[in-house]
Amino acid sequence: METLTILWTGRLWLRRFTATARDLDALASLHGDPEVMRRIDDGRPQPRETVAARTLPGILRQYDELPPGTGCFAVESRTDGRFLGWLSLRPPSSVGLAAAPAVGRGAVLELGYRLLPGAWGHGYATEGARALVRHAFTVLGAEQVVATTMTVNSASRRVLEKAGLTLVRTFFEEWPEYIEGAERGDVEYAVSRAEWAQGPAAPSA
Ligand SMILES: CC(C)(COP(=O)(O)OP(=O)(O)OC[C@H]1O[C@@H](n2cnc3c(N)ncnc32)[C@H](O)[C@@H]1OP(=O)(O)O)[C@@H](O)C(=O)NCCC(=O)NCCS
Repeated sequence: METLTILWTGRLWLRRFTATARDLDALASLHGDPEVMRRIDDGRPQPRETVAARTLPGILRQYDELPPGTGCFAVESRTDGRFLGWLSLRPPSSVGLAAAPAVGRGAVLELGYRLLPGAWGHGYATEGARALVRHAFTVLGAEQVVATTMTVNSASRRVLEKAGLTLVRTFFEEWPEYIEGAERGDVEYAVSRAEWAQGPAAPSA
Protein backbone atom coordinates (compact mmCIF):
# COMPACT_ATOMS: atom_id res chain seq x y z
CA MET A 1 0.00 0.00 0.00
CA GLU A 2 1.23 3.47 -0.82
CA THR A 3 2.34 5.24 2.32
CA LEU A 4 0.60 8.49 3.13
CA THR A 5 3.19 9.74 5.60
CA ILE A 6 5.64 12.29 4.29
CA LEU A 7 7.54 12.90 7.49
CA TRP A 8 7.18 13.31 11.22
CA THR A 9 8.66 15.51 13.91
CA GLY A 10 8.66 15.27 17.70
CA ARG A 11 4.97 16.17 17.91
CA LEU A 12 3.59 16.09 14.37
CA TRP A 13 2.71 13.75 11.52
CA LEU A 14 2.64 15.15 8.02
CA ARG A 15 0.67 12.99 5.64
CA ARG A 16 -1.14 13.23 2.34
CA PHE A 17 -4.77 14.27 2.38
CA THR A 18 -7.19 11.59 1.23
CA ALA A 19 -10.55 11.58 -0.55
CA THR A 20 -12.42 10.81 2.66
CA ALA A 21 -15.25 12.53 4.53
CA ARG A 22 -12.91 12.87 7.48
CA ASP A 23 -10.35 14.86 5.49
CA LEU A 24 -13.05 16.93 3.80
CA ASP A 25 -14.48 17.83 7.23
CA ALA A 26 -11.02 18.74 8.48
CA LEU A 27 -10.11 20.88 5.48
CA ALA A 28 -13.54 22.56 5.42
CA SER A 29 -13.21 23.49 9.09
CA LEU A 30 -9.79 25.03 8.42
CA HIS A 31 -10.67 26.93 5.24
CA GLY A 32 -14.05 27.90 6.70
CA ASP A 33 -12.52 29.64 9.72
CA PRO A 34 -12.60 33.46 9.42
CA GLU A 35 -9.54 33.91 11.65
CA VAL A 36 -7.46 31.53 9.54
CA MET A 37 -8.49 33.17 6.26
CA ARG A 38 -8.24 36.79 7.41
CA ARG A 39 -4.89 37.38 5.67
CA ILE A 40 -5.23 34.96 2.75
CA ASP A 41 -6.60 35.53 -0.78
CA ASP A 42 -9.75 37.68 -0.49
CA GLY A 43 -9.70 37.46 3.32
CA ARG A 44 -12.94 35.47 3.46
CA PRO A 45 -13.62 31.92 4.66
CA GLN A 46 -14.25 29.35 1.92
CA PRO A 47 -17.69 27.70 1.83
CA ARG A 48 -17.65 23.96 2.43
CA GLU A 49 -18.99 23.39 -1.11
CA THR A 50 -15.93 25.13 -2.57
CA VAL A 51 -13.58 23.04 -0.45
CA ALA A 52 -15.40 19.88 -1.56
CA ALA A 53 -15.58 20.80 -5.25
CA ARG A 54 -12.25 22.55 -5.76
CA THR A 55 -9.83 22.75 -2.83
CA LEU A 56 -9.55 19.13 -1.73
CA PRO A 57 -9.66 17.73 -5.30
CA GLY A 58 -6.96 20.23 -6.25
CA ILE A 59 -4.71 19.10 -3.40
CA LEU A 60 -5.24 15.43 -4.34
CA ARG A 61 -4.55 16.09 -8.02
CA GLN A 62 -1.26 17.78 -7.17
CA TYR A 63 0.10 14.57 -5.63
CA ASP A 64 0.08 13.16 -9.17
CA GLU A 65 1.02 16.31 -11.04
CA LEU A 66 3.78 17.78 -8.88
CA PRO A 67 7.24 16.32 -8.27
CA PRO A 68 7.21 13.39 -5.81
CA GLY A 69 7.43 14.44 -2.17
CA THR A 70 5.89 17.86 -2.78
CA GLY A 71 2.32 19.03 -2.23
CA CYS A 72 0.01 20.10 0.59
CA PHE A 73 0.07 17.83 3.64
CA ALA A 74 -2.30 17.33 6.56
CA VAL A 75 -0.66 17.98 9.92
CA GLU A 76 -1.79 15.79 12.82
CA SER A 77 -0.81 15.55 16.46
CA ARG A 78 1.28 12.47 17.16
CA THR A 79 -0.19 12.41 20.65
CA ASP A 80 -3.87 12.05 19.79
CA GLY A 81 -4.20 12.13 15.99
CA ARG A 82 -5.98 15.49 16.08
CA PHE A 83 -6.01 17.43 12.77
CA LEU A 84 -4.09 20.66 13.28
CA GLY A 85 -3.97 22.08 9.74
CA TRP A 86 -1.65 21.80 6.76
CA LEU A 87 1.85 22.60 5.59
CA SER A 88 2.89 22.68 1.96
CA LEU A 89 5.98 22.49 -0.19
CA ARG A 90 5.28 23.12 -3.86
CA PRO A 91 6.72 24.72 -6.98
CA PRO A 92 6.53 28.52 -6.52
CA SER A 93 3.10 29.78 -7.57
CA SER A 94 2.19 32.68 -5.29
CA VAL A 95 1.89 36.15 -6.77
CA GLY A 96 5.26 37.89 -6.59
CA LEU A 97 7.41 34.77 -6.80
CA ALA A 98 9.51 34.11 -9.89
CA ALA A 99 8.78 30.92 -11.81
CA ALA A 100 11.50 28.34 -11.23
CA PRO A 101 12.06 24.63 -11.77
CA ALA A 102 10.96 22.47 -8.82
CA VAL A 103 13.46 19.72 -9.50
CA GLY A 104 16.99 19.51 -10.85
CA ARG A 105 19.40 22.38 -11.31
CA GLY A 106 18.20 25.60 -9.66
CA ALA A 107 15.20 23.87 -8.07
CA VAL A 108 13.08 26.14 -5.89
CA LEU A 109 10.18 25.15 -3.61
CA GLU A 110 7.61 27.36 -1.91
CA LEU A 111 6.70 26.80 1.73
CA GLY A 112 3.17 27.44 3.04
CA TYR A 113 1.01 26.66 6.11
CA ARG A 114 -2.38 27.09 7.75
CA LEU A 115 -3.28 25.85 11.21
CA LEU A 116 -6.54 25.85 13.15
CA PRO A 117 -6.66 28.65 15.75
CA GLY A 118 -6.82 26.09 18.57
CA ALA A 119 -3.36 24.92 17.50
CA TRP A 120 -1.73 28.37 17.36
CA GLY A 121 0.95 29.42 19.79
CA HIS A 122 2.41 25.99 20.50
CA GLY A 123 5.27 26.14 18.05
CA TYR A 124 3.65 23.63 15.68
CA ALA A 125 4.05 25.77 12.56
CA THR A 126 7.71 26.37 13.36
CA GLU A 127 8.30 22.68 14.03
CA GLY A 128 6.60 21.62 10.80
CA ALA A 129 8.18 24.38 8.69
CA ARG A 130 11.68 23.50 9.88
CA ALA A 131 11.07 19.86 9.02
CA LEU A 132 9.79 20.72 5.55
CA VAL A 133 12.73 23.02 4.83
CA ARG A 134 15.06 20.20 5.85
CA HIS A 135 13.05 17.83 3.63
CA ALA A 136 13.34 20.25 0.69
CA PHE A 137 17.12 20.42 0.94
CA THR A 138 18.05 16.92 2.07
CA VAL A 139 15.46 14.72 0.35
CA LEU A 140 14.04 16.70 -2.57
CA GLY A 141 17.29 18.33 -3.67
CA ALA A 142 15.98 21.90 -3.71
CA GLU A 143 18.52 24.70 -3.95
CA GLN A 144 16.25 27.36 -2.46
CA VAL A 145 13.07 27.54 -0.36
CA VAL A 146 10.92 30.66 -0.75
CA ALA A 147 7.69 32.00 0.75
CA THR A 148 5.47 35.06 0.72
CA THR A 149 3.03 36.50 3.21
CA MET A 150 1.36 39.82 3.94
CA THR A 151 3.67 42.35 5.57
CA VAL A 152 1.22 42.57 8.50
CA ASN A 153 1.13 38.79 9.07
CA SER A 154 3.56 38.83 11.98
CA ALA A 155 2.95 35.23 13.03
CA SER A 156 3.67 33.91 9.56
CA ARG A 157 6.80 36.04 9.20
CA ARG A 158 8.07 34.80 12.53
CA VAL A 159 7.54 31.19 11.45
CA LEU A 160 9.58 31.84 8.30
CA GLU A 161 12.37 33.47 10.26
CA LYS A 162 12.46 30.62 12.76
CA ALA A 163 12.63 28.14 9.89
CA GLY A 164 15.75 29.90 8.62
CA LEU A 165 14.35 32.10 5.85
CA THR A 166 15.27 35.77 5.62
CA LEU A 167 13.51 38.79 4.13
CA VAL A 168 14.26 39.35 0.44
CA ARG A 169 11.95 42.27 -0.35
CA THR A 170 8.65 44.00 0.27
CA PHE A 171 6.45 44.28 -2.81
CA PHE A 172 3.11 45.71 -3.82
CA GLU A 173 0.60 44.02 -6.10
CA GLU A 174 -2.81 45.02 -7.35
CA TRP A 175 -5.27 42.63 -5.71
CA PRO A 176 -8.85 42.30 -6.95
CA GLU A 177 -10.18 42.91 -3.43
CA TYR A 178 -8.81 44.99 -0.57
CA ILE A 179 -8.15 43.19 2.69
CA GLU A 180 -7.05 44.82 5.91
CA GLY A 181 -3.31 45.49 5.91
CA ALA A 182 -2.90 45.20 2.12
CA GLU A 183 -1.63 48.78 1.95
CA ARG A 184 1.59 47.59 3.65
CA GLY A 185 2.19 45.13 0.85
CA ASP A 186 3.61 41.62 0.88
CA VAL A 187 6.98 40.23 1.81
CA GLU A 188 9.12 37.60 0.13
CA TYR A 189 11.41 35.37 2.17
CA ALA A 190 14.03 32.84 1.05
CA VAL A 191 16.82 30.57 2.17
CA SER A 192 19.38 28.81 0.00
CA ARG A 193 20.67 25.36 0.75
CA ALA A 194 24.11 26.78 1.64
CA GLU A 195 22.59 29.35 4.02
CA TRP A 196 20.39 26.72 5.62
CA ALA A 197 23.31 24.34 6.13
CA GLN A 198 25.14 27.00 8.13
CA GLY A 199 22.14 28.19 10.15
CA PRO A 200 20.65 27.14 13.48
CA ALA A 201 17.59 25.53 11.84
CA ALA A 202 19.75 22.88 10.14
CA PRO A 203 20.18 20.48 13.06
CA SER A 204 17.60 17.70 13.14
CA ALA A 205 14.08 19.22 13.41
C1 LIG B 1 0.90 31.60 10.84
C2 LIG B 1 0.54 30.39 11.71
C3 LIG B 1 0.66 29.11 10.89
C4 LIG B 1 1.51 30.33 12.91
O1 LIG B 1 1.24 29.12 13.60
P1 LIG B 1 1.73 28.83 15.08
O2 LIG B 1 1.81 27.34 15.26
O3 LIG B 1 0.91 29.59 16.05
O4 LIG B 1 3.20 29.42 15.07
P2 LIG B 1 4.28 29.11 16.19
O5 LIG B 1 3.64 28.71 17.47
O6 LIG B 1 5.28 28.20 15.58
O7 LIG B 1 4.89 30.57 16.44
C5 LIG B 1 5.90 31.10 15.63
C6 LIG B 1 6.29 32.46 16.15
O8 LIG B 1 5.30 33.41 15.80
C7 LIG B 1 4.97 34.17 16.95
N1 LIG B 1 3.59 34.58 16.82
C8 LIG B 1 2.50 33.80 16.84
N2 LIG B 1 1.40 34.55 16.67
C9 LIG B 1 1.82 35.83 16.55
C10 LIG B 1 1.17 37.06 16.34
N3 LIG B 1 -0.16 37.13 16.21
N4 LIG B 1 1.93 38.18 16.26
C11 LIG B 1 3.27 38.11 16.37
N5 LIG B 1 3.95 36.96 16.54
C12 LIG B 1 3.23 35.84 16.64
C13 LIG B 1 5.19 33.23 18.09
O9 LIG B 1 5.34 33.93 19.32
C14 LIG B 1 6.46 32.53 17.64
O10 LIG B 1 7.60 33.34 17.82
P3 LIG B 1 8.52 33.23 19.14
O11 LIG B 1 8.87 31.78 19.30
O12 LIG B 1 9.66 34.10 18.82
O13 LIG B 1 7.69 33.69 20.30
C15 LIG B 1 -0.92 30.51 12.24
O14 LIG B 1 -1.02 31.73 12.93
C16 LIG B 1 -1.96 30.44 11.15
O15 LIG B 1 -2.33 29.37 10.70
N6 LIG B 1 -2.49 31.63 10.74
C17 LIG B 1 -3.56 31.69 9.74
C18 LIG B 1 -3.13 31.24 8.36
C19 LIG B 1 -1.97 32.05 7.84
O16 LIG B 1 -1.91 33.26 8.01
N7 LIG B 1 -1.06 31.34 7.18
C20 LIG B 1 0.10 31.97 6.57
C21 LIG B 1 -0.32 32.58 5.29
S1 LIG B 1 1.11 33.21 4.42
